[in-house]
Amino acid sequence: MSEAFKPNKSLVAKTFGRAAVHYDDVAVLQAQTGDELLDRLSLVTLEPTTILDLGTGTGRNVSALSARYPHASLYALDIAPNMLHQAKQSYRATLGLKRWLPKQKQPSFIAGDAEQLPLADNSVDLVFANLSLQWCDLKQSFAEIARVLRPDGLLMFTTLGPDTLYELREAWATVDDYPHVNVFYDMHDIAEAMMQAKLAEPVLDMDKYVLTYSNTMALMKDLKVLGASNVAHGRRRGLTTRSALHKVAAHYEQFRTENVLPASYEVIFGHAWAGQPAKQVQRDDGSIAVSLDQISGLSK
Ligand SMILES: C[S@@+](CC[C@H](N)C(=O)[O-])C[C@H]1O[C@@H](n2cnc3c(N)ncnc32)[C@H](O)[C@@H]1O
Repeated sequence: MSEAFKPNKSLVAKTFGRAAVHYDDVAVLQAQTGDELLDRLSLVTLEPTTILDLGTGTGRNVSALSARYPHASLYALDIAPNMLHQAKQSYRATLGLKRWLPKQKQPSFIAGDAEQLPLADNSVDLVFANLSLQWCDLKQSFAEIARVLRPDGLLMFTTLGPDTLYELREAWATVDDYPHVNVFYDMHDIAEAMMQAKLAEPVLDMDKYVLTYSNTMALMKDLKVLGASNVAHGRRRGLTTRSALHKVAAHYEQFRTENVLPASYEVIFGHAWAGQPAKQVQRDDGSIAVSLDQISGLSK
């Protein structure tokens, strides 16, 4: 991914920090993919003693993980301190007095960066990351996840694929050439990054989610409340003019169906185990080949 399209990390922390208070009101997609990820986790026999909720946000999944694995130590980590503050409060509110049950361990809320995890090598059994890795350098983050996972530890995550918000991207393309919508990695990039990090038996599949809005401004407002507005280094700085917004809204209208505007999200689900990769092919130049068949064969 070119530098211009990479997320600016201090801006990520700032925009998510600003979003913390109202985030849960609009995090519809995050709730759906989080639940799906938790469902998928039920299919795996795992008795983790240490869990990392990576990019915990307002900690919606902390309570669920904590209820499912009450004996496990749970690290809820995020780059935005305001999100962590919100996560602590909602953990207290959700578990209420149950959080003081004798065997219920209290989660640790940690301010940190997925690309430089403040955790020891081989110290985590399960890394759970719902819609946070799309804001990170994948190679760096997977390498860090592989480092902190214990042998036989599991990574389960969701992230966004390149077709996410394609309607909005197309509408903006009629206005100028700046990236107005974040650019996301595709399945090949993700698979390659997992293999380079030596995560074993990576499995990826994709699901499409469509949220609907009455108008473009409502969509943009939600993205802002979510902290998911454009954070690319090469984004256009300065105020967006009213006429540009009108142009975007006018072009977005071509997607209107049944009187609503769709906003498509390509959600990529993935998991992998700590350990040596089983299916990689090492080329002479040192790069790792991930065949299309291998990825699509794993798709739904
Ligand atoms: C879309 S929210 C998802 C939150 C939560 N996992 C959920 O399911 O609701 C993404 C979160 O990732 C965090 N994040 C982004 N980049 C990060 C990084 N490099 N390290 C740690 N957290 C990061 C953001 O601050 C934000 O809270």
